[in-house]
Amino acid sequence: MKYPRLLSSGANNKVIVLSETEVAKLYIGDSRSDIGSEAEKMKFANTINNLVAGFIRLSYDEAMQAEMLVMERIYPIDYRAYEVERRELWWEAFEHEMAQLHKAGFVHRDIKRPSNLTGLAFDNILLTNEGLRLIDVGISTLRPQVGDKIFDKYLETELQEMAEFRQYFLNR
Ligand SMILES: Nc1ncnc2c1ncn2[C@@H]1O[C@H](COP(=O)(O)OP(=O)(O)O)[C@@H](O)[C@H]1O
Ligand SMILES: [Mg+2]
Repeated sequence: MKYPRLLSSGANNKVIVLSETEVAKLYIGDSRSDIGSEAEKMKFANTINNLVAGFIRLSYDEAMQAEMLVMERIYPIDYRAYEVERRELWWEAFEHEMAQLHKAGFVHRDIKRPSNLTGLAFDNILLTNEGLRLIDVGISTLRPQVGDKIFDKYLETELQEMAEFRQYFLNR
């Protein structure tokens, strides 16, 4: 099936354009992710700060037979459009907002794509003129879902992935 207004395909899902301000992540038939839980995690992160793309609504498209997670449309730009000094400021803001999410009990868990998957390593982090934003909370976890021990383990991995992203972002 060819999807109209296809914007991008990630590791699992396709994202289509709805308007200048909205995109929809499609969950089709055999999608392994749970749209309801992804929406809940997004909404939670949205209550903490503006880092994760804004949740708008859930919908269903009859023609495509797809569940749709409608969200704020982000327009990414290339890191190399800006000098390293400016990127350093954006990195600091990102680090601060990530720390806020972590403190609130949210860990993203998909900062870096596993190296056995093709595609860009950091395609869930988007740079905009206003700084870095995060998408794709598909495998994100909230502390009460897994308990302190597992959460802290996830957090440790996330901090490592953030360090790798920092290297990439500032040296590209
Ligand atoms: N809010 C958004 N604004 C703009 N592009 C987006 C947005 N959400 C996702 N995308 C694009 O769609 C791709 C797939 O979305 P993503 O949520 O990462 O799905 P997957 O779980 O398949 O990785 C992303 O890599 C990105 O290019
Ligand atoms: Mg993704």
